[in-house]
Amino acid sequence: MKTWFITGVSRGLGLAIAKAVLADGDRVVGTVRGNPPDLERPGQFHALKVDMQDVSAMEFAVQKSFSISGTIDVVVNNAGYGLLGAVEDSTEEELRSLFEVNVFAPIRVARLFLPHLRRQRSGHIIFITSIAGRAPSLGAALYSAAKHAVEGFASSLAAEVAPTGIKVTAVAPGQFRTEFLSAASVRTSRAADSGYAETVGRTVAALGTVDRNQPGDPDKAAAMIVDMVESASPPLHLLLGTDALLRARQKIEQVKMEMQEWEECTRGTDFSDRLSRY
Ligand SMILES: NC(=O)c1ccc[n+]([C@@H]2O[C@H](COP(=O)([O-])OP(=O)(O)OC[C@H]3O[C@@H](n4cnc5c(N)ncnc54)[C@H](OP(=O)(O)O)[C@@H]3O)[C@@H](O)[C@H]2O)c1
Repeated sequence: MKTWFITGVSRGLGLAIAKAVLADGDRVVGTVRGNPPDLERPGQFHALKVDMQDVSAMEFAVQKSFSISGTIDVVVNNAGYGLLGAVEDSTEEELRSLFEVNVFAPIRVARLFLPHLRRQRSGHIIFITSIAGRAPSLGAALYSAAKHAVEGFASSLAAEVAPTGIKVTAVAPGQFRTEFLSAASVRTSRAADSGYAETVGRTVAALGTVDRNQPGDPDKAAAMIVDMVESASPPLHLLLGTDALLRARQKIEQVKMEMQEWEECTRGTDFSDRLSRY
């Protein structure tokens, strides 16, 4: 029996992953802020109360998870929320809360688990990032920045822990039919008249119509994540959803074209005694 530690199992993707893991006969230690979901799996499902912004509650939860199960096999950093709107309209508080929940908390969770996983010489740390963290679109600059931060962290962490036997995967979903875009989750920066109504404003309004109409099925995403963990060589980066795949491909093509167009400029900055080396 494997044990998964999952943040944010109250609803959405976290709940779907918890259900898939339990259905496989494995154990879940999941964090919630309010009431735990009724998963009716005594001994197999343990809910711990943690707000992602509460450092000592998270420290306690990590310790507690090891007293529930001597070994933690998979850590899923899932809890998070979106912030939409123009950068000019965002407040200092919105910026700080977003990074606290979506960036500092998952990095902290990894930092707290690492010594234990290193001693185990096993473990798989998964970060639920977003396609916005690889191929950003209009209207979510701060959210994209947060998810890029976690993507970068995961890439470097993977290299750091590779010799210890710990695996790392950054999972970037496209649009999935959870509560992510509902009023209960997503936040929007608002200003009286900042001049972005026709650009960011329109995009944010259009996103409102996507709520509950997203192409991605969270249960299928959860099943893919469970399968991926079982793989002999899990990926460092995993995209979920055809929309994510198309956006990522388009972004890679843009980056390649721009690199090519500006290659001369890029190479032009080396010291002349280094020029022949590459
Ligand atoms: N759905 C998508 O289209 C999509 C796309 C790309 C990436 N993602 C990412 O997928 C992850 C899960 O989102 P979702 O789609 O499942 O959205 P969701 O249905 O809104 O669920 C969000 C989960 O995060 C938890 N959470 C939010 N803020 C928290 C905080 N301060 N402390 C503790 N828990 C907190 C929520 O707990 P409460 O119930 O207590 O609020 C809930 O369990 C997020 O990291 C999100 O950025 C989602």
